[in-house]
Amino acid sequence: MSKQPLSPDPTNIEHAVSLLKQGGLVAFPTETVYGLGADASNPDAVKKIFSAKRRPSSHPLIVHIGHFDQLHKWAQNIPDSAIQLVDSFWPGPLAIILQKQAWVPSVVTGGQDTLALRMPNNPVALALLKQFSGGLAAPSANRFNHISPTLASHVQTELGDSVDLILDGGACQVGLESTIIDCSSREIKLLRPGHILPEHIEAVLHRPVSTAQESKIRAPGMLELHYAPTTPAFLCPLEDIEDRIDHLVKQNKSIGMLAREFQADHSAVKAIINMPVEAVPYAHDLYAQLRQLDIMPLDIIVIEQPPQHSAWAAVNDRLLKATAGNH
Ligand code: TXA
Ligand code: MG
Repeated sequence: MSKQPLSPDPTNIEHAVSLLKQGGLVAFPTETVYGLGADASNPDAVKKIFSAKRRPSSHPLIVHIGHFDQLHKWAQNIPDSAIQLVDSFWPGPLAIILQKQAWVPSVVTGGQDTLALRMPNNPVALALLKQFSGGLAAPSANRFNHISPTLASHVQTELGDSVDLILDGGACQVGLESTIIDCSSREIKLLRPGHILPEHIEAVLHRPVSTAQESKIRAPGMLELHYAPTTPAFLCPLEDIEDRIDHLVKQNKSIGMLAREFQADHSAVKAIINMPVEAVPYAHDLYAQLRQLDIMPLDIIVIEQPPQHSAWAAVNDRLLKATAGNH
């Protein structure tokens, strides 16, 4: 039976903690997206995450912690750079890849000897983690390759049958998954762009961060098609939109659109969503609006291409993945 999201009051948080301790699955809000949490020290519990999401088991998970002293419980040989990042950005939307402690179950890390750790900045997540007092493995609470959830109702729609409890913390503040930074070797690498930009990290570390995406480390966020709506979506520069729409109309396509600066009132377009012009509020709305278009009977979603500069890196990364292969 599909689970109804529950208010994160002390009784429900206590119930969530006891379900987690028994090896259950609890979906909870973070400041980025909703997570599907399980006790990261319990391999059987972690395996349930993979089957609920239908995610290949070789794909590593992020472990969420609520106490700074847990860092050393999970990771070893932690470099000064990672400590500086923790001090500057935690709790916050930054996941850090470190060498794992030998005891950490390999099901969490997809068999790798590195581990992703993060302390989320969301009151419900922190209350849950502090009361649970261990680490929670939590990928985004969506089916593999779908759009990440930014509302509790999104989780209910996708995973309501396979979770034990959903905590409702309202809309996620950031709206895109965390920045992932790899501090497990000498070169510091950005593995996934997010709200925290490479320049923010460089300003703290006083050294360059490599943004080369050709890492050998497995990160599903780096697969071609990911975060994708079911309706084919494609990116289109502002100046080409009119022509594209004319072309699609001639093919009798039912069109939806995520516009940013595009103004024309186009009767051929079934649904136009006007997105915020700035990157941060755009990121906040993106997944919810894509879902909105995805549940409509449309043939195609046209997404106006946002600017290319650094503030838009995370949005552009997710849009490229949502539209991979479509031209
Ligand atoms: O914002 C977020 O990070 C959300 C919330 C729930 O915290 N979680 C999230 O988890 O996005 P997930 O599983 O959807 O994405 C985790 C990413 C994947 O791309 C995974 O491959 C990468 O983290 N990752 C985890 N461990 C890794 C490791 N040891 N080395 C490289 N990448 C790793
Ligand atoms: Mg995900």
